Amino acid sequence: MNPIKAHGGKLVNRIAQKNTAGMFSISISEDLANDVENIADGIFSPLEGFLVKADFDGVISKGRLANDLPWTVPIVLNVDKETAQKAKDAGDVALKTTHGEFAVLHVEETYTFDKTKTSQAVYGTTDIAHPGVAKTNSMKEYLIGGKIDYTKRPGDDPIRKYRLTPTQTRQAFSDAGWKSIAAFQTRNPPHVAHEMLQKESFLSCDGVFVNPLIGKKKSGDFVDEVILESYIAMINNYYPKNRCSLATLHTEMRYAGPKEAIHHAIMRQNYGCTNIIIGRDHAGVGKYYSPFAAQEIFSDYPDLDIKPLFFPAFYYCKKCLAFTNERACPHSPDFHEQISGTKLRSIIDEGQSPSEYIMRPEVVKVIQSYKKPFVE
Ligand code: ADX
Repeated sequence: MNPIKAHGGKLVNRIAQKNTAGMFSISISEDLANDVENIADGIFSPLEGFLVKADFDGVISKGRLANDLPWTVPIVLNVDKETAQKAKDAGDVALKTTHGEFAVLHVEETYTFDKTKTSQAVYGTTDIAHPGVAKTNSMKEYLIGGKIDYTKRPGDDPIRKYRLTPTQTRQAFSDAGWKSIAAFQTRNPPHVAHEMLQKESFLSCDGVFVNPLIGKKKSGDFVDEVILESYIAMINNYYPKNRCSLATLHTEMRYAGPKEAIHHAIMRQNYGCTNIIIGRDHAGVGKYYSPFAAQEIFSDYPDLDIKPLFFPAFYYCKKCLAFTNERACPHSPDFHEQISGTKLRSIIDEGQSPSEYIMRPEVVKVIQSYKKPFVE
C-alpha cells in the first residue's frame, strides 16, 4: 500500500473509449497534448480537465482551486473567439495534434482572462523577457474549461518508454518496499551537487524518485535525450541497487520558481512520493526569484500532504575537498567552486570537460557524444 493519497484524495483516471467521428475538433500543440495525457493519468489530480473560471480565478488570486485545494499553475486551453463560440455550440469537442484525434473535451464554459494579472500571479513579474510571461502574452484571448476523456495514446518513441503513470509508480514503490520516497525534479543532466542532494535524501527516505522533466524548454537548456541518458549513466555507475527509480515527466518547464515548486510537489505526490527535494533556485530562471523563494512558499501551504526536504546551496570546496555547503564549511568563497547551468554550457561549448569533482566523467561523455546537446 502506498503511504500517501493523491492530491485531493483520489487519483484521477480519465482514460475512456469515445467515438470522436464527426465532432468539431481543435488542434493543440504536442506540449498541451502531453498535459491532457497527464490529466487523464492522474498526474494533475484532482484536475479532470481544463480549469473552469472559478478555479482559474482561485489559482490566480490565492494559488488555490475554488474549493481551496492548493494549485498554482493554470492548466488551460486557449483559443480565439470564433473557436470558443463553436466549441460552446458543439458541447463535446475532439482534441487533435498532427498525429490525429486523441481526446474529447466536454465544454463547460468559455471565458476571457487578464494576461498581466496572470503573469504577475504565476511568474511574479510582467517582464516580457521572462519565458512564462512571453508565453502568456502570446496566448489567444479565450479559455475553454471542462473535463476531458483521453481516448488514444501516441505511438511509442524511445523516451516514452520512461513515462510512467502514477498507478505504475505507486506499484513500483510498493514492490520495492519503499514507504518514504523523495522526489527529485530536474531539467538538467546531473552534476555532483544534484547527486549530493539525492544521496543525502537516502538517509531519511527509503528511495529517491528521479523525475526529469521532458518537454518544451527554453533555448540553451539541455535537450531531453541528453538529460535522460546522462541520468541512466550516473545511476548505473554511482547508485546502490534498489534505492533509486527513474521515470520521465512529460510537461513543459514553466520557470515559475516558487509557484512551480508547489506544482512540482503536487505532481510528485500524485506519483506516490511522500517528500520532494527543493534546493537552491528551484525552477528558477535569470534573477527573477531569490535563491530560496521556492522553499519559503511552502509555509503558505501547510495543508499539502507531500512534505519538502530543503537543502542549502551546495558547492565544491577546494579546502574541504568535497561538495559541501555553508552550514558545514568554514572556508572563504575563494575556495568554492559553484556550478551553474550557464557555466556548464560555456565549458561544453568551448569543447572543454568540467572537472570530475563537478560532473561525473560518464555523464560528461554522454553530453559530449551529442553534436547539439542544447535546445536551440
Ligand atoms: S530545476 O529548474 O528543475 O529546479 P535543476 O535541474 O538545476 O533545475 O535543479 C534540480 C533540483 O536541484 C532543484 O530542487 C534545485 O533547487 C536543486 N539544485 C540544483 N543545483 C543546486 C545546488 N548547487 N545546490 C543546492 N540545490 C541545487
